[in-house]
Parts: sequence; C-alpha cells; structure tokens
Amino acid sequence: MNRPRIAVLASGRGSNMEAIADACADGRITADLALVLANNAHAGVLVSAAQRGLPHACIEHGEFADREAFERAMLAELRAQNIDIVVLAGFMRILTPLFIREYYGSLLNIHPSLLPKYPGLHTHQRALDAGDREAGATVHFVIPELDAGPAIIQARVAIHDGDRAEDIAARVQREEHRIYPLAVQWCATGRVVLKNGIALKDGEAISVETNNTTSTAVERS
Ligand code: GRF
Repeated sequence: MNRPRIAVLASGRGSNMEAIADACADGRITADLALVLANNAHAGVLVSAAQRGLPHACIEHGEFADREAFERAMLAELRAQNIDIVVLAGFMRILTPLFIREYYGSLLNIHPSLLPKYPGLHTHQRALDAGDREAGATVHFVIPELDAGPAIIQARVAIHDGDRAEDIAARVQREEHRIYPLAVQWCATGRVVLKNGIALKDGEAISVETNNTTSTAVERS
C-alpha cells in the first residue's frame, strides 16, 4: 500500500502540526505530511511549515461568500494533493457536512478537554470554574455535531491548586503532542477505523471514560 498522504488544517501557532511533522520525519507516523493548510495568512503554522520545508497553502475563509464555498475550495486543494487523511489541529472554523462527508472516517480533531465534557471554547476555564481536579485532551473522529465524534484517545492531566487556565493549557498541550501522533499513526495504518458510527481499534470498540476509571483508550503518561 502507498504511504497515506496527510493534510494538517490549522489556524494558529501549529505546535500540534509540529508534533505530527516530527513523527512523520522520524518514522513514528508512517505517512507523509503532504500539506499544511491554513485559513488565515497570519497563522504561525504557515511560518513553521515554511521553515520545515513542508508544502503549505492558505485559503482565506473571509474571501468566500459562505462556508460551503470556502470548503469547496479546500476540498479542491486536498484533492489536488491526493490527501487521504485530514488532521484538524487548532482549526478554528466549524466544518459543514459538505466537507465532513468527503473525509468521513479519515478526518480527525484534537479538542482540549476530556470530551464529552466541555465541547466548544474556553475548556480549561470551564474546568476551573467547575472545580474539576483533572483536565485533558481528546482526539476524535469528526462528525457534523461539534466536538461530538467518537473518541480515539484521551490524555488526562491533574489540575493543581492555584492553576490558571494557561497553566492547564500548557500541561494539556504537552499531552496533545504525545497522543495526536499516536492517533494519526493508528489511522494511517488502519488500526483505528470509524465503522457504523463507532471508533474501532484493532476491531474492538474504543471506550473512553471521562471519569477517573481507567479505560483501554486512555494513555496515561
Ligand atoms: C490545541 O490546544 C488544540 O487542542 C485546539 O487548538 C490548539 C491548537 O494549538 N484544538 P496549536 O496551534 O497546535 O499549537
């Protein structure tokens, strides 16, 4: 089988893109990072991609009349580059079914909470406000419902007394950089698939608990 071709879609700094690029370069991911695509010309991820000599492009969402026109432009670019797997890494645009349908089962996202807790924004502040003692990140398949797709892997971190949201964010991001390459490799090799709406790993349904119980898909550092 040919090596799968990955695109990372990002809007920000791109530290998860860098973690995935490193894993592609050193063989932890047996796929090629064939495109870094941003929706905003000022995204740091484009600078990082250029410095690493990675193919990169920007499609400004603001230049399109509506979401679907923007998505059609992205799909055209992804098709032109023969992209097999799309990895959202801090991509701050909500995708419609038009886009999701095309890459359904090959479209991953990372979200900075222990989903199903705290879909949406400001996850760490919400965890602090709720008095939670732990936070984390979840890699999941993307479905049309926001941050609600089947989980592939989660990582948990402790919340310490006196933590601010940014302290938690830094702790969670270190874990993101560990678990996202793992999940991408599992998808690239077909170990993890989305079948009938269920995420399977090695043929078994993945169960990710968001309480303190241990589950097969939770990797603790
Ligand atoms: C990550 O924290 C991720 O969980 C969220 O957006 C952030 C992206 O960070 N979806 P970076 O651009 O990869 O550094």
